[in-house]
Amino acid sequence: MLISEQLALAMNEQVGRELGASNQYVNIAAYFDSEALPELAGFFYRQADEERMHAMKFVHYVVEAGGKVAIPAVDEPTAEIKSAEEAAKLSLEWELEVTNQINDLMNMAIEEKDHIAQEFLRWFVNEQLEEVSTMDELLSVIRRAGESGLLFVEDFIVRRGDPHEEGEA
Ligand SMILES: [Fe+2]
Ligand SMILES: [Fe+2]
Repeated sequence: MLISEQLALAMNEQVGRELGASNQYVNIAAYFDSEALPELAGFFYRQADEERMHAMKFVHYVVEAGGKVAIPAVDEPTAEIKSAEEAAKLSLEWELEVTNQINDLMNMAIEEKDHIAQEFLRWFVNEQLEEVSTMDELLSVIRRAGESGLLFVEDFIVRRGDPHEEGEA
């Protein structure tokens, strides 16, 4: 097989984390949905779909490279979201954490001199720049607007357009 057992194992763990992130974002989306903030809800529902897509990318890669797929237990999402700021802060923290996880996977692929895996992982390295900067921006806008000014944030999302729809998958 093309992939080492160690790297396949680490990628399986990442599948679990991406699925966990997806659930986390569904939870946040539902919070905004119940607060009658449809643009923020839509933004996070799409974000949830994207995380699932990330998980599937890892699944397909592991299979293609001849590794074994075994999906681990997925962490429960943060029980209760209480504010927009908290939701955006959590999301930004998540994305920074995921960036480190992707870097760790890349380091492993480099150590193993696995060039195919490095090529595959490069997409995620680039993706994290967009993910972190999007959440960072959202957090700034939410802080500026304040919890009573979230309709401005709704407007902002409509005007800005969805970064997920700007091109790549
Ligand atoms: Fe992701
Ligand atoms: Fe993400």
